[in-house]
Amino acid sequence: MRIDVVSIFPDYFAPLHLSLVGKAISSGIVELGVHDLRGWTHDRHNTTDDTPYGGGAGMVMKPEPWGEALDALEELDPAPMTIVVPTPAGRPFTQELAYELAAKQRLVFACGRYEGIDQRVIDHCVEHYEVIEVSLGDYVLNGGEVASLAVIEAVVRLLPGVIGNPESLTEESHSAGNGSLLEYPNYTKPPVWRGREVPQVLLSGNHGLVAKWRREQAVERTRSRRPDLLAPDGRD
Ligand code: ADE
Repeated sequence: MRIDVVSIFPDYFAPLHLSLVGKAISSGIVELGVHDLRGWTHDRHNTTDDTPYGGGAGMVMKPEPWGEALDALEELDPAPMTIVVPTPAGRPFTQELAYELAAKQRLVFACGRYEGIDQRVIDHCVEHYEVIEVSLGDYVLNGGEVASLAVIEAVVRLLPGVIGNPESLTEESHSAGNGSLLEYPNYTKPPVWRGREVPQVLLSGNHGLVAKWRREQAVERTRSRRPDLLAPDGRD
């Protein structure tokens, strides 16, 4: 998969070279390009924003640098681009959407700042590319950078070869193989820590009982913390 990011703060994306995503890049599973939007400005101050038509607080990102950036990215690689636009007005980001994005050949993250990007850029993208506006949640960040980092990490770990043991993907919270329940609690050695014991069933060696206990824990956690994830009748 090829991933491009366009931002006025490209330094935000340096941590992508760490850990699993970093390995995915160095092993060639992911090709990452991080681009400074200011490289597509032509004035002395590298201006990327201006006051909103109609008035109001805040600034809006100008369309011209974005237009040039998208044209240039299109030239870089022939694979069809899926443009991901992080915005609190977007489709809520879920594990299901992460799987959907992981199936794409090429993702381009367009990180807006301030009050967002001139709407004509989005309309232009809709006409020329696939566009997915994505919200990380019902709160407001200062821009699309942190949301893009979260989406990139969630997507890249789903790509074949990124996670050593692919079974861990099916067991974790929010995965379809788990009935979309939250994950059960986990324990490791020592068996007693500060007087707290590991649940006996996990030491029993009885795989059937362990599986049953984990499922009960997952259902109970989901019922108490995220009842919205369970079916309307309260059963999973
Ligand atoms: N940009 C600002 N707030 C955001 C949010 N909640 N999700 C995605 N992008 C954003």
